[in-house]
Formats: sequence, structure tokens, C-alpha cells
Amino acid sequence: MESIRRTRIVELLQREDYGTKVNVKGWVRTKRGSKAVNFIALNDGSTIKNIQIVADVEKFDPEMIKLITTGACLSVNGEMVQSIGSGQNVEIQALEIEVLGTCPADFPMQKKGQSFEYMRQHAHMRLRTNTFGAVFRIRHNMAIAIHQFFHERGFFYFHTPIITASDCEGAGQMFQVTTKNLYDLKKDENGSIIYDDDFFGKTTSLTVSGQLEGELGATSLGQIYTFGPTFRAENSNTPRHLAEFWMIEPEVAFIDLDDLMDLEEDFIKYCVKWALDNCQDDLEFLNKMIDKGLIERLKAVVNTDFVRLTYTEAVKILEEAIAGGHKFEFPVYWGCDFASEHERYLVEEHFNKPVILTDYPKDIKAFYMKMNEDGKTVQGTDVLFPQIGEIIGGSVREENYDKLMARIEEMNIPMKDMWWYLDTRKFGTCPHGGFGLGFERLILFVTGMQNIRDVIPFPRTPKTADF
Ligand code: 4AD
Ligand code: MG
Repeated sequence: MESIRRTRIVELLQREDYGTKVNVKGWVRTKRGSKAVNFIALNDGSTIKNIQIVADVEKFDPEMIKLITTGACLSVNGEMVQSIGSGQNVEIQALEIEVLGTCPADFPMQKKGQSFEYMRQHAHMRLRTNTFGAVFRIRHNMAIAIHQFFHERGFFYFHTPIITASDCEGAGQMFQVTTKNLYDLKKDENGSIIYDDDFFGKTTSLTVSGQLEGELGATSLGQIYTFGPTFRAENSNTPRHLAEFWMIEPEVAFIDLDDLMDLEEDFIKYCVKWALDNCQDDLEFLNKMIDKGLIERLKAVVNTDFVRLTYTEAVKILEEAIAGGHKFEFPVYWGCDFASEHERYLVEEHFNKPVILTDYPKDIKAFYMKMNEDGKTVQGTDVLFPQIGEIIGGSVREENYDKLMARIEEMNIPMKDMWWYLDTRKFGTCPHGGFGLGFERLILFVTGMQNIRDVIPFPRTPKTADF
């Protein structure tokens, strides 16, 4: 076969230099046609769009033609031809075809219209489908948008550790990291495991948040963001929870609650607008195949002001809904932690747009949140989204050493390994705050997918760590 440099399909489809000889490589989506002519739709992952390969059957070895089945991998040399019937401007008249990889009939993605549940069991091959191609190209674009947003605003990308000895959220939902032999654990006289001889000489876990280290970055570099894997051993088998997910955590010195909410709103809008501007083909595909309201919803978010509401006001709205006959499964009272049905009522029924809730009761939020003067509420903010629920959680931080210590003692937070965090409040403390955005929840919103397992290539959830 003549050696011609490969062109990606996304580039080929832009070109109009008909007559040029090109090489494309990719996987067969479909093959149709007659005894005389075969039409092969080839996709190489560079775009949702396929290029049509036209093969005059008589010019090729019939044994080779038989090997061109759905899923097979081909290298095709051919001539660029103006196309009438393929839905694109250009197609390839094949001159030489090499089957790089045959694809037997037990290819798990052979049939169209398989359920997402089925595809999850074949997550390694689902990447070859149109839907997952679209989702993961958008996921890439969102990562670029995030770096771009912060870089433009003078934030520094700050790397926080994955292995840590502290539990930022204080919820005890950590995966332990150890090199100890679990079959032969040394214990002290009280039966507690001795960790002195473990790799780090103490108990360590995978991080649930980079925030505590991020605060050290912000109180020196001024404004930073993290973007990395995050691990939570919460046994939540929901379409919104993963055991391993990616979180973006900006942290900013000298910021107050209003500025923090502005940052949250600007950030999400920037990302959604980026998708609308840069992922048009994939969004149109998802809008057609997955969720007919998707693009409308994305545009609405970019063009609307988010509602800003205190927790106390939200409780009133929910109580009024109940008085008006609305039924919730879980009770509503001042001090309750909102269930997703409450959040969804506010966002999807009452306001019908994103809501930023603030000033939560201190007892349902983390120890580091700044106390309001009422002594009852803290300057925490959650951003709630239609279809998703909580997409962002953040707060202004308690920067006063004594007040922070009082909260730590009140909440029984184990501070043994946190002296370094407290030093931020001891040496030149400053007002600061930040938030965490769950990357996969953003991707859920932007793609219209329903299950968080379908927006990360290899999901980790309770009882599943395949692939
Ligand atoms: O609200 P969370 O727990 O906040 C924090 O971790 C803070 N330290 C953030 C900060 O202020 N720097 O988590 C933040 C976001 C949630 O709003 C949600 O979008 C996402 O992380 N998240 C999850 N996403 C997927 N699976 C899970 N199990 C998640 N838990 C939280
Ligand atoms: Mg939260």
C-alpha cells in the first residue's frame, strides 16, 4: 500500500481540494451498498462525524471486502471527491484498503441502541460509540475551559497531594492507604493497630478534597485552583456519586461571600458557554439523541442571573410549598440538611433556574466555614442546578484562630496532623474563601447524560472497579 501521511477526519471534512490523494484511518461504523459499490462510514474519534468511503467492489479482493464489518479498523488511501449523498461535502473514493484490525461478530458494540446499563458492563468498548465519543470530547473541552478561565484571571494551578493524613471534610469517608500486611497486623495492648512501621509511619488515606492544602496556596500566592482526582468512600449508589471523581477547587485570599458567589456564577457560565462555542457538533448530536432540551438549557444558564438565597429563606419557601399541598418524603424544618427532593423543588419548580444557597446552619456544614454574627449560621454556599442538584460547595473560611479552634473542639475534629493548617491562622492570617466544583456533575449538566457513571471513562462506585 502506498505510504501517505494520515489526515484526521475532522480536518478532511473541512477541505475542498477535491482530487487530492489522502489516507484516513479509523473504525467502521456501518457498511452498506450493493454488490457493485460499498459505502463505508468511517470514524476516527476526531469528530462525531464520519467520512464516507466509496469502494467499487470489483477493484478489491473479495476476501478483504468481507472483513470490512462494523467495528473493524481500516487504513484507506483514496481520492477526495465532492459528495452529494453522504451528508458531508467530501467523501473518499477508495484506491487501496488495508484492514488493520478485523472485528468478529461478538463485538459488544455491534448492535445500535444498547442500554447505558449494558454499555457500562462493556465500558472499555463503549468508548467506540458515538455517544461516548461526544461525551469525552466535551469532557476534554471542559478541562481546557477550566484551565483557561483561571489562567485568564491570574489564578495559579496548584497541585495538592493525593495521599494525605487529614480528613478535610471531617466526614470519615476515606480510603486508607497502607503497605502493611493485612494478614499480620501488629497491635498494641488495647488491640489498636500500630502504624509506626507503615510506609508513612502513620495512617494515611486518599484525599477527599485538596482544600486544606489549597488554603496554604491561596494565603501565599493569592489565588490558586486545584484540579485533580478526589476519593470518597461514601456508600452512595446514586446517579450523582462516584467513589473516584475529579474536583476543581479555587481558593482566594481577601474574598468575601458576595465575590465568592460571583466567581462561582462566572465560572460555570464560562464553562457552559465554552461548550456552546466549541462543542457544537457533539452537543447537536446529544441534543438529538439523548436530551431534546439540552442546548436550550445550556443557553438559558448562560443568559440568566442565578438566584441567591439564604438557607433560612429557602426553608420558608419549602414550608409554604408544604402548606400549599406539596408532599416531600423528608421533613423540612430549620436546621435540617436538604434532601435532593428539596433542592430540586427550589431549582426546578419554584425558581426554574440555578440557585446559590448561603448561610447554612453551622451544624450541617464543615468545621472550616466562617461563622456569621448570629452564632448559628455559617458563610457556606452551595450552587444548585436543574437536573443535577448540588454542583458546587464552598465557603468563606474561618480565619480567626480562636474561633476555628473552638469549632474544631466542638465538632471533635481529629487535629493531630493538622498543626500545619492551623499555622495559616497563626502567622499572618487573612480572610479567604473558595469552593469545589464536581467535574463530573458539570459534565452531566453539559452533556444531558443522566448517570454520572456515563461521563467518566472508567467509573469507580461501590462494588465496581472493573477496567
Ligand atoms: O461539597 P463538597 O464536599 O465540598 C468540598 O469538598 C470542599 N472542600 C470544597 C471547597 O470548598 N474547596 O464537594 C464539592 C463538590 C460537590 O458540590 C459535588 O459537585 C462534588 O464535589 N462531589 C461529588 N461528585 C461526585 N461524586 C461524589 N461522591 C461527590 N462528592 C462531592
Ligand atoms: Mg457539599
